[in-house]
Amino acid sequence: MDTQVVIIGGGPSGLLLSQLLNRAGVATVILERGTRERVLSRIRAGILEWGSVEMLREAGVSARMDAEGIPHDGTLITDADMVVHVDFKRLTGRRVMVYGQTEVTQDLYAAQDAMGTPIVHGVEDVRIADLDGPGAAVEYTLDGQRRRLTCAFVAGCDGFHGVSRKTIPAAKRQEFERVYPFGWLGILSRTPPVADELIYANSPHGFALASMRSETLARYYVQVPLTDRVEDWPDDRFWAEFKRRIPSDAAARLVTGPSIEKSIAPLRSFVSEPLRWGRLFLVGDAAHIVPPTGAKGLNLAVSDVFYLHQALIAALKRGDTAGIDAYSARALARIWKAMRFSWQMTTMLHRFENEDSFAARMRRATLAHLAASETAQRDLAENYVGLPY
Ligand code: FAD
Ligand code: DHB
Repeated sequence: MDTQVVIIGGGPSGLLLSQLLNRAGVATVILERGTRERVLSRIRAGILEWGSVEMLREAGVSARMDAEGIPHDGTLITDADMVVHVDFKRLTGRRVMVYGQTEVTQDLYAAQDAMGTPIVHGVEDVRIADLDGPGAAVEYTLDGQRRRLTCAFVAGCDGFHGVSRKTIPAAKRQEFERVYPFGWLGILSRTPPVADELIYANSPHGFALASMRSETLARYYVQVPLTDRVEDWPDDRFWAEFKRRIPSDAAARLVTGPSIEKSIAPLRSFVSEPLRWGRLFLVGDAAHIVPPTGAKGLNLAVSDVFYLHQALIAALKRGDTAGIDAYSARALARIWKAMRFSWQMTTMLHRFENEDSFAARMRRATLAHLAASETAQRDLAENYVGLPY
């Protein structure tokens, strides 16, 4: 056998799984389609649940996160000038950490390099074979040459567009999907964030989110129609639209500046079941997508890795296969709860095209209830900081 686990995809799921397995003495090879620069240039998630923070500590990659990450004890949820402060710390005893996916990925690459893990970039035409035999194999093309790696298990960490999920025969897969009729236009700007905490803003003009990466780097989003292109949104238009969606006191103190990144992401809920097919296990975006409103995408990838790394270590080190047999059901139980929360947050905070006048009143009433009810706040806080593994 060439290695114990072949990991397809060198995004956060693949890197974290590899790091945890290597630390337990399990050998891995990571196959990544893109260059390292490309993986690191993607600005994506910004909020870590505390469970994710603890996983990164366990993986030995927390030094920079602990030094530079910003713990947040709560968040603001607003509708025009109605402002609800949800105090995570008081309501749940837990908090979240502002630390970008790019930084997490960079820290994981550095740790994997230090471990000497083979990470093969630029692989093409990856194909998974022999999944129901005594061992599995992964074939791929590198520099025009076809290659083959044999292994005990394959981890499909190759995102929504990867090959792993599609390796499971369509007749054996069940997919659940909701596509939302809007996307998020996000910008990064070297300006001080408008508030100390995040602002999730509902407004008659649509949703906006004020987030951050550091004290000098702001990350802001506005809901846009799916037909919009980045070129439709010069900076001036973005700032004007963002200002009219956030509460007026925040708009008054907003510092604007040139955007240094701008992109549009569509919103979708998606789950593919099961997560296991013979010796193949799906992890993270390869198996499920959430709309970003609850900040769950990266955190769900981390909880999948939590279940799978324990299961693979038990199987490979002790011959105990109970964990790999239970992986799909255990991970899916948590995934569906995060699906529900992300869908609910999305519904509560976005304006749907051609909606009736009732829908806007329901959003406002949901927020009014949140403002008045500690029970409702605790429910939101409990989900936002992350349900137990
Ligand atoms: P990915 O990060 O997608 O990594 C998969 C890796 O596999 C990639 O590096 C890819 O190049 C590689 N790969 C793909 N196919 C192959 C192949 N055939 N062979 C080899 N390698 C392959 N989440 C949030 O919580 N908040 C956000 O604000 C947020 N914003 C997002 C914006 C965008 C545009 C997207 C797409 C996602 C966003 N997410 C966000 C979700 C979050 O980034 C993902 O949940 C997270 O990246 C999942 O990590 P992953 O490693 O499972 O998948
Ligand atoms: C960020 C993205 C989210 O989807 C979210 O809910 C919170 C923060 C961010 O990019 O900072």
